Amino acid sequence: MGYPIPKGNSLRGPFQPMRFEATVDECIVTEGEIPKDLAGGFYRVGPAWKRPTKQGTTAGLTSDGMVQGLVFDNGRVDYKNRWVRTPKYLLEEQHDRSMFEWLDCNFGDWRDTGFGEVVRDDANRGVSQTTAGTNVFPFAGQMIATHEQGGPPIALDPITLETKGIVPWSTKLSEGMIPPAAYGDNAFAAHPKWDHATGDLFGWTWSDQQPYLTMHVVNKNGSVRSREIWDAPFATVAHDAWLTQDWLVMAFQGFVPDRDRYQKQNLSVWGWKPENPIHLALIPRDAPDTPVRWIKTDLEPQYIMHTMSANVVGNKLLLDGPIFNRPPFPFEQDMEEGEDVALYFNIARSSLGRWIVDLDTGHVKAEQLSDRPSELPKVDERFYGQGYTWGYQVGGIVKRGGMKMNSLVVTNMETLSDQEYQIRQDEPAAVMEATFAPRSPDSPEGDGYIIVPISWWADKRGEYQIFDTDDITKGPIAKIELPFMMGWTPHGHWMDFR
Ligand SMILES: [Fe+2]
Repeated sequence: MGYPIPKGNSLRGPFQPMRFEATVDECIVTEGEIPKDLAGGFYRVGPAWKRPTKQGTTAGLTSDGMVQGLVFDNGRVDYKNRWVRTPKYLLEEQHDRSMFEWLDCNFGDWRDTGFGEVVRDDANRGVSQTTAGTNVFPFAGQMIATHEQGGPPIALDPITLETKGIVPWSTKLSEGMIPPAAYGDNAFAAHPKWDHATGDLFGWTWSDQQPYLTMHVVNKNGSVRSREIWDAPFATVAHDAWLTQDWLVMAFQGFVPDRDRYQKQNLSVWGWKPENPIHLALIPRDAPDTPVRWIKTDLEPQYIMHTMSANVVGNKLLLDGPIFNRPPFPFEQDMEEGEDVALYFNIARSSLGRWIVDLDTGHVKAEQLSDRPSELPKVDERFYGQGYTWGYQVGGIVKRGGMKMNSLVVTNMETLSDQEYQIRQDEPAAVMEATFAPRSPDSPEGDGYIIVPISWWADKRGEYQIFDTDDITKGPIAKIELPFMMGWTPHGHWMDFR
């Protein structure tokens, strides 16, 4: 049956759900020309509300993941979007109604996150609650959709976007925060990193119970090496990490998960404890017997949600990323009971920064590298873990307590010089995460193209703008138009076919 779209911020404006699956062969190029040397796919995933949950919430993490793929071949580009056919999606399709009730979504306001456990009954017992709508990345020839801690990685066909199913290596992962619904219903990271040369995938799970973090290294043949981290100072929302040649570096920050908060305190599952000192865990990535190095910092309260990348220069470890004043999520410090959800960049602001770790003394200092509001950092992912020069972000301007995103920013992280191209002025639009695609498989770091998805939601139009890294200030070299509103997506990645 059909349902009206509930009112509220989480499904308004750019967050209006894309409620259909489309196939657009030979997309219209409204300006410029698609480079013939681009051969690969650009994939994004995000929550797409389909029907009310049992208790009627619209929390993003309860909505089914929708993957959007743009496949490039010899100057032609084809678009598709498909629901990720998770076990939850298939069960609900069969019954034509919601089969899940989230324990942290019974408030009907900003506290509804869809991050907690679900109520188990005879109808949904044994079925994973994952919606697979957080990120999608390439691994071993497939695209893998993941959910922030809610369930196992789901494999997708890169051409058809058909859901192939839960990856076979999910049985070797760990359960994270949510108890598994069935054998293999384990968790994985929102933002894994990989080693381009070996194909090894570095991910993790996290929990409000010990061990607070478990690292998983997945080989392309599906074998998994795991390391439980038992000596973390507190539980943290371990959303992203840095990969270097030696370590996976995880920041333990005051953005904390705690199921007691919704079970006993009538609060959202996530809390902000700025009094928690930021700790860095330098986890040896390839040396399981070498201890984790813990660095307790005396940094002022701040928050890095997404990492750009890291460099090791002499005895200094440089950890780059946009630094927020606080996590961009609503907490009890901000909101009253009954208030509608306040979303992301409306309530907090970040700009590019760097944590400089003195590896001899263990002292850490924070540097702000730019005054410009920015987030959604990306790099040339062929060079994950190897050091880097080029960083890409979505830039913006200050707007009340948060920021309004409107531009593409490319930064040389050695010289800190940058280039900016303003994509929109005051037109309503969502400028989403920019992604790098190399000019050729062996082109130098940062030599290629940057693809930026833009939802002109008020015009019910979608667009991808492609920039040449030679000079983004000249504007896009091609614009691809979609004749409908493109659903909002937080994250995605490029898969090269060459
Ligand atoms: Fe993220």
